[in-house]
Amino acid sequence: MIKLGVNIDHIATLRQARREGAPSVVEAALVCEKAGADGITVHLREDRRHIQDYDVYSLREILKTKLNLEMAATEEVVGVALDVKPDSVCIVPEKREELTTEGGLDVKNNKETLSSIISKLKKAGIVVSIFIDADLEQVSACSEVGADAVELHTGKYSLIFKESGSSSRECKGELKRITEASKEALKRKLILNAGHGLDYENVGQICKIHGMNEFNIGFSIISKAIFDGLQKAVFDMRKLIQQNSNL
Ligand code: PXP
Repeated sequence: MIKLGVNIDHIATLRQARREGAPSVVEAALVCEKAGADGITVHLREDRRHIQDYDVYSLREILKTKLNLEMAATEEVVGVALDVKPDSVCIVPEKREELTTEGGLDVKNNKETLSSIISKLKKAGIVVSIFIDADLEQVSACSEVGADAVELHTGKYSLIFKESGSSSRECKGELKRITEASKEALKRKLILNAGHGLDYENVGQICKIHGMNEFNIGFSIISKAIFDGLQKAVFDMRKLIQQNSNL
């Protein structure tokens, strides 16, 4: 079955609104694990707008599943990753002014820097993934720089799904692009992950792509948690993935 990594950045977003310690990121992670999450994902942003360094260290201590750290390819945050040693990292592009990660990383034009960072991370025993757009050249560049995995950006797919519907020509086109990039990743023996903008309505079609290993999902789960509770929100997403994976 496709694994579910729950991104809990927005538990920290809420906590940072008051900076008084609640809601607890650690407690949220434990609830996600109890509800069947296969791992916890957090993004330690350069501006520390939500997740703080101490969250990453605490999660490393208490998680029984896996810790996946999303990070930019900067010296400072690579230093934190090498110290914390999460199970995996996902290298993402980062701009201070963006609301969330907007596009995939341009691996093709940054091969030298990325190769050196990836080699350090892998030597520390960390599985390295790169967040990229569904583009065949970017997939092959990931394999050239020594990444273990790719995470295909499903943000554009999720927007088109919402605006034009799942049976629209645009949505089918984007799904085809993701499917082709997935095939290329598997051909190059890369672990195949996907994420961004996935929700309870659009995740089904992505589940059907052959060879998917893991999804990283945050915003839709945390939003549903406000009304239904975090445990149910995670449980329902996991059930949905399970049902669609078996088709
Ligand atoms: N994967 C990556 C690489 C991301 O940057 C994010 C957003 O932090 C996610 C997955 C989760 O996206 P969403 O919150 O839209 O589910």
